Amino acid sequence: MMARIIGGVATSHVPAIGAALDNGKADDPYWRPVFAGYEASKRWIAEQKPDVCIVVFNDHASAFSLELIPTFAIGCADTFEPADEGWGPRPVPSVSGHPELAWHLAEQLILDEFDMTIVNRMDVDHGLTVPLSLLFGQPSEWPCRVIPLAVNVVQYPPPTGRRCLNLGRAIRRAVEAFPEDLKVVVFGTGGMSHQLQGPRAGLINRDFDTAFLDRLVADPDGQAAVPHIDYVREAGSEGIELVMWLVMRGALDARVREAHRFYHVPASNTAVGHLVLENA
Ligand code: DHB
Ligand code: FE
Repeated sequence: MMARIIGGVATSHVPAIGAALDNGKADDPYWRPVFAGYEASKRWIAEQKPDVCIVVFNDHASAFSLELIPTFAIGCADTFEPADEGWGPRPVPSVSGHPELAWHLAEQLILDEFDMTIVNRMDVDHGLTVPLSLLFGQPSEWPCRVIPLAVNVVQYPPPTGRRCLNLGRAIRRAVEAFPEDLKVVVFGTGGMSHQLQGPRAGLINRDFDTAFLDRLVADPDGQAAVPHIDYVREAGSEGIELVMWLVMRGALDARVREAHRFYHVPASNTAVGHLVLENA
């Protein structure tokens, strides 16, 4: 009777996707193909019925700022409210945490030498709420508990890909040491290639994105060795968000089954990428 990780979800978290849903534009010709790419995944997660989702995301100066920059922060609160990112909070449900599992993870991870920041109050921005919307649609309550795990990919230096992969492996050990029968899905969010500002704004690199997806599935250790500069050069300055997908990957078996893949351009200024992975 222990908790277990039943699968992993990776997805871009483009804020305009949330705005499209919230403003009733999901059926517009521009957005319909984006949401269509998530239909199979919505069925998958509805069948899996996870009790808890650990959502690895980055805060975009909503809860944190340059005053405080935790590399890895775990949300241990009962509730997390949608952040006001300048247009009012998104009209989505509050996020219910799982304080018992979150504190267990914090303890196990810190004793495992990952120096987590423990967060007892944090509003959650599009980095977390857009992935929930993509997988769960527009319910009046989110159908599972959510443990937010924030990674700094905004202010240099972010953690290395290797560190992220190893954190995922430590999360798996910690989940499997929690003495309650819980089904857990781990989300990695952000990416794919995107650069939001400067002369290269709008950069999309399909070849890099495809190679990343292939390698994340089949050769995570190889992908983990890729240095930051390669992401920034090839995938744009915000493409560095992709290192967060390695946390999700590390929480799964060495060999995984790719249950679903989706790649689509454009969505705002970015490429949308999405994977659903199961232990093989
Ligand atoms: C945008 C912002 C993001 O944080 C992101 O991951 C993708 C796109 C945007 O503003 O378009
Ligand atoms: Fe982002």
